[in-house]
Amino acid sequence: MNKVRTLLAIVLVGGSAWQSASAADANYARNLAATCFTCHGTDGRSVNGVPPSLAGQNRDYLLKQLQEFRDGKRPATIMHQHAKGYTDAQLSLIAGYFAAVTPGRAAPAPAAR
Ligand code: HEC
Repeated sequence: MNKVRTLLAIVLVGGSAWQSASAADANYARNLAATCFTCHGTDGRSVNGVPPSLAGQNRDYLLKQLQEFRDGKRPATIMHQHAKGYTDAQLSLIAGYFAAVTPGRAAPAPAAR
C-alpha cells in the first residue's frame, strides 16, 4: 500500500511540475534556448558572429532553419545533430526566445571578467 501511495505522490508531483512548466512558457523557452548559449553566445549574441548570432533574428527564419537542420534538409557540421529530438513546439519556443532578444555585443562569461 505504501508503495502505491509513493507512486501516486510521484505521479501527482511530476504532473503538477509539468503543468507549471508549460504555464511558465517564458522560463521553459529560456531553458531550452540556454542549451545554445555555449556556441551561439549568451542570449544568442555570439563572439564576432561565429557561429551566427541568433539574438534578434527573424522568428520564422530561425524556426525554418532549425526544422531544416533537424529534418536533414540543410547541410551542417553540427546543427543537424543538435536540432534532433526537439518537437516543432519546442523549436518554436526557442525561435521565439531568440527573436525577442535585443541584438548586441557578446559579453564575456562572469568567470572570465
Ligand atoms: C556545439 C555548438 C553549437 C550549439 C550547441 C548550437 N549551435 Fe547552432 N550553429 C553552430 C554552427 C557551427 C553553425 C553553422 C552551421 C553548421 O555547420 O552546423 C550553427 C548554425 C545555426 C543556425 C543557422 C544560422 C543562420 O544564420 O542561418 C541556427 C538558426 C542555429 N545554429 C540555432 C541554434 C539553436 C537554436 C541552438 C540550440 C537549440 C544551437 N544552434 C546550438 C553551432 C552550435
